[in-house]
Amino acid sequence: MSRKILVTSALPYANGPLHLGHIIEAVQTDIWVRFQRMQGHDCLYVCAEDAHGTPIMIKAQSEGITPEELIARVAGEHRASYQGFLIGHDHFHSTHAAENRYFTDLMFSRLKEAGHITTRNVRQPFDEKAGIFLPDRYVRGTCPRCKAVDQYGDSCEVCGAIYTPADLIDPKSTVSGTKPLWRESEHIFFLLSRFEQMLREWVRSGPLQEPVYAKLDEWFAAGLQDWDISRDAPYFGFEIPGYPNKYFYVWFDAPIGYLGCLKALCECRGLDMHAYLTPDSKIELHHFIGKDISYFHTLFWPAVLHGSSIRRPTAIHVHGFLTIDGQKMSKSRGTFIIAKRYLELLPAEPLRYYFAAKLGPDVDDIDLSLEDFVARVNSDIVGKLVNIASRCAGFVARSGGKLSDTLPEPALYAEFSASGPRIAALYEQLDYAQAMREIMLLADRANKFIDTRKPWTLAKDPAKTIETLGVATQGINFFRVLMVYLAPVLPDMACHAAQFLGAPLSRFNEVDAPLLGSPLATYRPLWQRLDPNVVNKLIASTNTAAETTTATAGETHVTLDDFSKLDLRVANVKAAVAVDGSDKLLKLTLDLGGEIRTVFSGIRKSYTPESVVGRNVVMIANLAPRKMRFGVSEGMVLCASGADGRVYLLSADDGVAGGMKIS
Ligand code: MSP
Ligand code: ZN
Repeated sequence: MSRKILVTSALPYANGPLHLGHIIEAVQTDIWVRFQRMQGHDCLYVCAEDAHGTPIMIKAQSEGITPEELIARVAGEHRASYQGFLIGHDHFHSTHAAENRYFTDLMFSRLKEAGHITTRNVRQPFDEKAGIFLPDRYVRGTCPRCKAVDQYGDSCEVCGAIYTPADLIDPKSTVSGTKPLWRESEHIFFLLSRFEQMLREWVRSGPLQEPVYAKLDEWFAAGLQDWDISRDAPYFGFEIPGYPNKYFYVWFDAPIGYLGCLKALCECRGLDMHAYLTPDSKIELHHFIGKDISYFHTLFWPAVLHGSSIRRPTAIHVHGFLTIDGQKMSKSRGTFIIAKRYLELLPAEPLRYYFAAKLGPDVDDIDLSLEDFVARVNSDIVGKLVNIASRCAGFVARSGGKLSDTLPEPALYAEFSASGPRIAALYEQLDYAQAMREIMLLADRANKFIDTRKPWTLAKDPAKTIETLGVATQGINFFRVLMVYLAPVLPDMACHAAQFLGAPLSRFNEVDAPLLGSPLATYRPLWQRLDPNVVNKLIASTNTAAETTTATAGETHVTLDDFSKLDLRVANVKAAVAVDGSDKLLKLTLDLGGEIRTVFSGIRKSYTPESVVGRNVVMIANLAPRKMRFGVSEGMVLCASGADGRVYLLSADDGVAGGMKIS
């Protein structure tokens, strides 16, 4: 029976580029959507820019543009990255759009009419210099518990304490650096606590994964807190009807953006939106999200929907976080990999395949290990899958380019096509990892079939041309079955393979019958082996690009004042020796125009002591002296780190002398 399904991925914030964490979510969703369509279901996929909120307002201010200009630019970048990764949204909208305002106002007024809204006074940190209220994360100070300095206003990264900005010792606004004042104003609250019974019932309908239920139980046990859904001006968002100078909090209208996008799509295609939203709708609604935003999607969202007489989600699919080589993505380690940068270096499909091979139905974190990425993709896709087609295509071409009319081993073919329902069930349950394993086991069997039948030997015997063609035809048919099973993951490759086979690869049930007697197009290589040298560039080279292009929410910019605090000088290297007991350090004696400094510098892997003596280098002369195991280091020498893992000393032009100030 054909199903109707509406699918969403979380809406990315419009204040920075997409990174591979966003991409893994989009790929997980896109695979599921493509899979549903290959089952013959009517499946729509929508997403949008999450355009509102303080971080976007501040980012736009810091760039001297309007928020509208910022979100238009970022949306363009996001679309390009999604397209590059072959993410097939039916519609990609924005939360800052008329359709979203329509639903936000409608749902708020319904909630209010039903008595689910109240007002309360709230004290919030206010930055007088910037003239804005500050989100918790925009206040930093000393942790009240462990006294660690420079902690966020909501929690301490050192001891894990959770608190409010009011608890911080010596709080400072990250926007202006000034001490925030406390201002009281009236906020609008959604009475989430009224929905506990409803939520408990909804949860019983089976919309969540096991570990997510467990989290929900914890939240129920702790008691549901009413939700502050308003922010005072200035704020970038929708003003609340009837409450001048008050705006809907970004997280109120963000999930509503799913519906805004649906509305825009329904208008484009002339679809009946009502059928999607009525409380007794038979159309499924599936949200794909990361674990960090489950509270919003499993509590607030179903409650807001229900409270405004709109259907609730069928399922919320939560995934874990992407790590790179076992660690959280980090700008300083160069592992914050931007989607755009990836696409400059590599095609999308190897990563789509790798993500599929790693994504299970659980909420565990997913690791992208670069070495494993290369090995896995080359072994599975090149060594197993493509190998089947490339080994067989030539034999078909040589016997006239048409497949034979029968298969030598139809029973074996039947086993391949009979795997379809099992693989489909794995896709359905989001166990892509197991699906990929089973598909690759079939690929192994296909290769074994070819190895045993040895078409290259058969082909030498003129009496066995028919047998040769039969074996090659069977091999090509195995390839076809595997390509159908992989088409949700590798849509581009499936498209090329369909051209080669002269038959579509668009439904799982196409493989019920083998492809016989039909002509093949000329075989062209379908895939390129991954080059580890290129893959390694993902890390080394993102470093600086990431630092400059992704100043995201909460990051402070360096002001001219900050910069002028650095005393940068040209220094002449008088002497250099390797430090005993360290394979990294050279001990440098530097001349700053009369003043002599000792600096320990980690350049030994890239420079011999002899090669640096006599150079003019750049140093930070007023860095606080650092006591090291080998002595005191009185400054720091500047280097650039190359993609090759080397460091390169920055040097001064001719004519520059030791001691000169750099500005
Ligand atoms: N704008 C909100 C979502 C609103 S949905 C109504 C938001 N945006 S986000 O840009 O921060 O994140 C978008 C999605 O990307 C979220 O589902 C988030 O969990 C996911 N990811 C962000 N970083 C991630 C990883 N490192 N790994 C996997 N997913 C990650 O939250
Ligand atoms: Zn602490």
